[in-house]
Amino acid sequence: MENGEEMKIVVAITGASGIIYGVRLLKELKEHETYLIISKEAKKLLKHETNYSMDALKEMATEFYNEDEIESKLASGSFPCDAMVVAPCSLKTLSAIANGFAFNLITRAAICCLKEGKKLIVVPRETPLDLITLENMVKLRQAGAVILAAMPAFYIKPSSVEDLIDFIVGKIMDQLGIEHELYERWK
Ligand SMILES: Cc1cc2nc3c(=O)[nH]c(=O)nc-3n(C[C@H](O)[C@H](O)[C@H](O)COP(=O)(O)O)c2cc1C
Repeated sequence: MENGEEMKIVVAITGASGIIYGVRLLKELKEHETYLIISKEAKKLLKHETNYSMDALKEMATEFYNEDEIESKLASGSFPCDAMVVAPCSLKTLSAIANGFAFNLITRAAICCLKEGKKLIVVPRETPLDLITLENMVKLRQAGAVILAAMPAFYIKPSSVEDLIDFIVGKIMDQLGIEHELYERWK
């Protein structure tokens, strides 16, 4: 993918803490085509953790889908997206993807990315991690996904929570191969 070229990216937001990562990512991808899928639990956390409304969130994406819209074009391997990001990714959704359990549009679209050899980035947020989850992460990595744990760094000398959020979103942008100025690289 050439830098500056418009990309088609599926962004899924699930019910893990850190809904703001998904919101910030959508904002950063405003020059690209974004297909937003949000889970029922994520809707509750959006309200609990942020001041954004569902309407505001929908406005940020090119197209919006609920998790039960399993008959939509995103559920097919023929959907020509360049990549998919699940941010944040709950351990439930991570487990479902790792085990091929396509119970909703998010997991189905993610499994389609894997089967079509497209980039899939999952951003889990949980600690400590149980053995089952660690094994699921290994499975997903072996299947080709990028496990981008929501672990902000402090070498950037953050002065705000926004700096910590931007660091993680910057790491996602790095994986997508899109230029950004979200964090200063170590020199
Ligand atoms: C306040 C709150 C915070 C949560 N934080 C996390 C979390 O950080 N990571 C996680 O894996 N699950 C977390 N959960 C649990 C998930 O929301 C739950 O497993 C849910 O079924 C995930 O569904 P989804 O993947 O379909 O969105 C949280 C739940 C609540 C109510």
